[in-house]
Amino acid sequence: MISRCARTLLTILAVVAAMTLTPITSETAEAADHGDESRTVLITGANRGLGLEFARQYSAAGWKVIGTARSPEKATDLEDLGVRVLQLDVADAESVAKMAAALADEPIDLLINNAGMANRDGMSFETLSFDSVEQVLAVNTIGPMRVTRALLPNLRLGTTRQIVHISSGLGSIEENTGGGYYGYRESKAALNMFNRSLAADLEKEGFTCVVMSPGWVRTDMGGPEANLSPEASITGMRKVIAALTPAASGTFQSWDGTIRAW
Ligand SMILES: NC(=O)c1ccc[n+]([C@@H]2O[C@H](COP(=O)([O-])OP(=O)(O)OC[C@H]3O[C@@H](n4cnc5c(N)ncnc54)[C@H](OP(=O)(O)O)[C@@H]3O)[C@@H](O)[C@H]2O)c1
Repeated sequence: MISRCARTLLTILAVVAAMTLTPITSETAEAADHGDESRTVLITGANRGLGLEFARQYSAAGWKVIGTARSPEKATDLEDLGVRVLQLDVADAESVAKMAAALADEPIDLLINNAGMANRDGMSFETLSFDSVEQVLAVNTIGPMRVTRALLPNLRLGTTRQIVHISSGLGSIEENTGGGYYGYRESKAALNMFNRSLAADLEKEGFTCVVMSPGWVRTDMGGPEANLSPEASITGMRKVIAALTPAASGTFQSWDGTIRAW
């Protein structure tokens, strides 16, 4: 005969076990995405375009948002959201180190390496400048590597250990039948490869590392003709991120949840 006290204890243990074993479905993950004030996201290049919309939506959902900008004094739209703003030029080692030092032992649950640039002279292989290729590689490929390494201690302190790099469909080798975009395409294909190694190396620590294509979006980079609004792209990507589990680590996903070809 079990005592009432032992029965209560068993009930509590059963509930805790059920909670622990409940798989993370898109529904539970999405529900968790809303109003969880204990979670922190750091978004690079958050002063305009997709980064600003990420900051807006995560802030509205109750997350602690750290948005970075190269020129914080000009990042008024980001400031207006009431989020924490840090200076960061992803291509500047000193700037990256300073940002990491400012965050010291603070946990970060989700890192979004969003900052990026396109080299405008990339459509003609015969006239493009190699300086612009070097610059786009420094920002789009080495930048996320630098930022990720600097923030690994913070991510290890976080609960979800998620790293999302904003890549591009133009980084897909398999889908490249159109040519052009020299420099930009290489920078994103290399970013994809970086993530693949990172995902493998951090698997044992329970990290989830993915590359995502935001679609063609109406920002300064995407231009006014793009078919997606920043709201739609970011809403889609947040949904995908909320449903991520470690099993998805190393994948290349679209804003709408479809898997992209390498
Ligand atoms: N829009 C699209 O259609 C599209 C499609 C595929 C992929 N993407 C990718 O999505 C990401 C965001 O693009 P977006 O459309 O929002 O572009 P955007 O409107 O041009 O914004 C780019 C952001 O990156 C920042 N940035 C550029 N160089 C930086 C550096 N060295 N250090 C730190 N921040 C830097 C910019 O800061 P400043 O204001 O200081 O320049 C700005 O905040 C990029 O990685 C891009 O490649 C966009």
